[in-house]
Amino acid sequence: MSSPGVDWRPLVDALADELTVSGKLVSPRWQAAFRSTPRHVFVPEYREQDSTGEWRRIAVDSPEAVAAVYRNVALFTDVDARGHGISSSSMPGLMTRMLELLDLHPGHRVLEIGTGTGYNTALLCAALGDANVFSVDVDYTTAARERLDSLGHRPTVVTGDGRDGLAEHAPFDRVLATVAVPQVPPSWLGQLTEGGLVLADLKITASAGNLVLLRKAGDQLEGRFDTGQAYFMRMRHTDAPVAPPDPESLGVAETRTTPWVRPYGWILFPGFCRAWSSVDRSRSGTGSATTPVTGHARPR
Ligand SMILES: C[S@@+](CC[C@H](N)C(=O)[O-])C[C@H]1O[C@@H](n2cnc3c(N)ncnc32)[C@H](O)[C@@H]1O
Repeated sequence: MSSPGVDWRPLVDALADELTVSGKLVSPRWQAAFRSTPRHVFVPEYREQDSTGEWRRIAVDSPEAVAAVYRNVALFTDVDARGHGISSSSMPGLMTRMLELLDLHPGHRVLEIGTGTGYNTALLCAALGDANVFSVDVDYTTAARERLDSLGHRPTVVTGDGRDGLAEHAPFDRVLATVAVPQVPPSWLGQLTEGGLVLADLKITASAGNLVLLRKAGDQLEGRFDTGQAYFMRMRHTDAPVAPPDPESLGVAETRTTPWVRPYGWILFPGFCRAWSSVDRSRSGTGSATTPVTGHARPR
């Protein structure tokens, strides 16, 4: 632990109380998991950008620095050569909101895409037991595993591309992506149990998309966009430009409309199930709480 002398319990309780009041932490399951998991163990240092744009390292090695970790803010933990954040400990209130949305029950097996610091993996372990938790990241897994181990957690943490899921450990009852994806990879659908859920930040473009909760029904994923905003960093390895769709080659399955949203469609490119949309912003303030989307992942 980076700062063993610090009493973190009052800090985590104060943050949990804040999230409870704002409705982001609700159920006894996630209350208990959140209040028993020390975030500072997973964030021994983080990065902050100063007014000149320079990133500086903040070591979490004093009582003040530990206290700063128990705020409802995302903390960048790695930055690439261009100065873009490439890993972080996500905003705690966003994590708890997503965990609540997942409707998890004892015995459920969860695949997390984007281990990062391992903090959210630890929350999953506390609620479901290590044997039911699987997590994958393109990097950072050694450090995450060590931190989890220091708290007695031994989930399955794998280095790899989350786009492929984790076939060797499937099936999963839930897939939780803590990265933004431009498309829902078909491997996630294929590795889900019937009735299982995918929760992901589906960002079709940088400015279009949001958290979407999709349930598997046969070869379909069907569900709703959430109203609360989410801004995850984009999945790496998937940013190759996508060729413009050739209408002749698209397997358009189904579209639906809502009072305030133009048609949504799901199409399967070779290798990907993809959704696209065009939100009528002039009417978005009057819309329903969630936006239905539906579609088939139809192998071609
Ligand atoms: C917002 S952070 C995850 C936060 C993490 N869940 C936590 O609690 O600290 C996003 C993570 O996704 C990872 N990532 C990016 N592309 C990925 C990919 N193709 N497969 C798996 N992980 C990926 C990044 O390396 C980064 O660590």
